[in-house]
Amino acid sequence: MASRLLPLVGLLLVSLSVYAQADNVTAVAGISTFYNEDLGITFTLNIDQNSEDINFFLSSPPYSWVGVGFGSEMARSLMLVFYSSQDGQSVTISPRLATGETEPAHYPGLTVTQENSSGMHNGDFRVVGTCKGCRVWPTGRMVTNSTTSPFILGFGSPTNTLASNDPTVRLKRHEGYGRFTMNTIQATGVNGLSALAALPLTNASDGAALIGSLQKDEDRQAFAHGIVMTLATLGVAPVDIVTAGALRRWPVLHMITSTALMAFVLGGMGVGIHISRMYLIVSYPVTGS
Ligand code: HEM
Repeated sequence: MASRLLPLVGLLLVSLSVYAQADNVTAVAGISTFYNEDLGITFTLNIDQNSEDINFFLSSPPYSWVGVGFGSEMARSLMLVFYSSQDGQSVTISPRLATGETEPAHYPGLTVTQENSSGMHNGDFRVVGTCKGCRVWPTGRMVTNSTTSPFILGFGSPTNTLASNDPTVRLKRHEGYGRFTMNTIQATGVNGLSALAALPLTNASDGAALIGSLQKDEDRQAFAHGIVMTLATLGVAPVDIVTAGALRRWPVLHMITSTALMAFVLGGMGVGIHISRMYLIVSYPVTGS
């Protein structure tokens, strides 16, 4: 009889051990980490299994600002923009939305909290935080069931440091940007915040990869605006003065140069207006860079 029961007891013990291991697995926080060597930026994500919250860790050298967006392009992505607080001790995190390739506007409908350990450490950003209900926003939702969920990244100038406590502060256009993917299935789990707080700094991606390469923002329109306006004022305008004065015997010359001057000024203005439409029109003072 005892010999017949032995296999059954063995089976029971094996089942109990498998159950215990499975329970252990669900108790471990899911985490995916994106690390970029060129920028020195680490972004670790945990998607809370039991809510719409996400937990994150960001470590970065002091760029003017660093932004991570949930989506494949600026338009419709929810972006978390990080910059130094006014006193340079802590980090301001501003959730923002953009309608296109334009300055993203602060979205006050979401709350972002930070752990006490977060702040500027020897000039670097080091933040562990939670974005409450951030899996859904008015223009989109985070893809949480894919090994290659889309994310974007942008970073401001490394020299022109922005320091403000204002989540609506104006941002200057990026120095560069990029796209990456994250395994959001791997990133889903419970107890994420404490796991992130205990995480050692890493120099490797895990469950994340850069798509292509980082792009330098050439800001060609601003360059074109500068060239056209310089040519107008230093090139065409002086010739126009000469044709209106010393060469006034040939009025046709003055007609040609003043028409050219008008074309340059209008062209430069057009590019200028196009550039200005990238930025938000707001009534509060510009305090940052
Ligand atoms: C003042 C703020 C910003 C302005 C004016 C701006 C403007 C632009 C412009 C004009 C482009 C096209 C660049 C080109 O064609 O070379 C672009 C592309 C891009 N920007 Fe921004 N941007 C701003 C902030 C951000 C932020 C905060 C992020 C990330 C969180 C970001 C991520 C990207 C990405 C990934 C692209 C590639 C195209 C796309 O995905 O739409 N930008 N941006």
